[in-house]
Amino acid sequence: MNIINSALVPAMRYKLSKTLVFRKAVGEPPAKDMNSKGKKLLYIHVPYCEEVCPFCCFNSYDLCKYKHTIKEYFQAVKQEIKMYKELGYDFNSAYVGGGTPTTVPDELAEILQYIRHEFNITEISIEANPKISDETVKIFQEAGLDRLSVGIQSFNDTLLKEIGRYAKYGSGDEIKERVKELIGKFRIVNLDFIFNLPTQTTEILKSDLETAIELGADQITCYPLMVAEQNIHNIKAMGYVDYNKEREMYFKTIIPTMEEKYIPASSWCFSRKLENKKIDMIDEYIVDYQDYIGVGCGSFSFANGYVNMNAYTIPLYISLIKEGKFPTIMRSYKLARKDHMRYYMMMSLFGRRLNKEKFEERFDTAYEKGLWWESKFVKLMGMATEERGNVYTTEKGMYAFLIMLRQFFVYANRLRFIGKKGSVEIESELNTLIEKTNRAYAIDEN
Ligand SMILES: C[S@@+](CC[C@H](N)C(=O)[O-])C[C@H]1O[C@@H](n2cnc3c(N)ncnc32)[C@H](O)[C@@H]1O
Repeated sequence: MNIINSALVPAMRYKLSKTLVFRKAVGEPPAKDMNSKGKKLLYIHVPYCEEVCPFCCFNSYDLCKYKHTIKEYFQAVKQEIKMYKELGYDFNSAYVGGGTPTTVPDELAEILQYIRHEFNITEISIEANPKISDETVKIFQEAGLDRLSVGIQSFNDTLLKEIGRYAKYGSGDEIKERVKELIGKFRIVNLDFIFNLPTQTTEILKSDLETAIELGADQITCYPLMVAEQNIHNIKAMGYVDYNKEREMYFKTIIPTMEEKYIPASSWCFSRKLENKKIDMIDEYIVDYQDYIGVGCGSFSFANGYVNMNAYTIPLYISLIKEGKFPTIMRSYKLARKDHMRYYMMMSLFGRRLNKEKFEERFDTAYEKGLWWESKFVKLMGMATEERGNVYTTEKGMYAFLIMLRQFFVYANRLRFIGKKGSVEIESELNTLIEKTNRAYAIDEN
């Protein structure tokens, strides 16, 4: 039995629902004290995908159905960035996630040029699928992209067929050939895999990871399967999700396969050990940047203890911006100081290290004092060790924080799902807006 999972899942669900309390905030600007000091990351959401995968739990829409919105969508994104700039926000890093941002290269390149002009952006990371064309690669090389994160999921043909990617992106061998061409084209090329899919075996996973290592990926990210409202029916149709298998795969396949040539940068991201190259950025920008602002539909912002959530549907997002408003639809009450410290601790230890001095700088109190019980607990449970002012996550702790982050993402996706349906929590005003904008675009969101 997977005791860690059985204990942590309900605990996380309970804690998140008690800690992150939201209220309706349609069109509201960010709270005045949201713009805290320190470096911030700009997250840009690009919701378009060639075709949404059945397992996907992110805010994505089929490109062919929404093609007519692209131009207006990017105008709206640019406007939203401008609104933050006018409020004095500053960014030094950008992460573009999706969807599949590389499906709309020209529009995105223009946005990247815009943010480079407006802010001192030193690093940019973008998500892609294996179908990324040579022309698109060139566009992003010219745009000075630092990190390309390619969704592979598996090289196994049977699994690729089952998760609806074989027909879209080709066979495992074809994907391998494409990856070979991509590696070296950017400072960092990351390959994404999912583990614990219902019919996936440890042999398939091991072989996939060995292939990725052989190909020389700079980074390899192994996401545990996340089951949320959006994908639960599709996942169930694939089979039973066994969390004992997840633990087995993590400890017996992922860690031993990766450890010789890669070091864990987080619980699920592994960076190649190289002496002459810095492989630093990871998919989980929320680890490196404790404060980030999300623009685009369905994106979240977390800054100075506030969580802001943007309109989820493309039409509603565009329509709020057109009305001259912020596209926010929900906002959390400011996190209690203690909960903010806990969030900081969770993100830092998911990223393998908490620096005590930085903690004190941020919260004006020592780590052991601010989080007396929590700091003792992680040590006693063997989840973390301490050395020269740093708290480091142990292997056992890595899995515990993987579960916590998995549940954190599932919770975020649950909120997106609620928002997409325009349901109860946000009540009538939002429902009316959704109805109005959906009618304007004549798209049935359901
Ligand atoms: C937002 S997606 C973008 C990937 C890209 N659009 C593609 O098609 O390859 C980023 C990554 O999230 C991961 N992912 C998506 N849905 C997931 C789920 N239900 N469980 C775990 N990981 C998931 C996949 O590994 C994926 O590559």
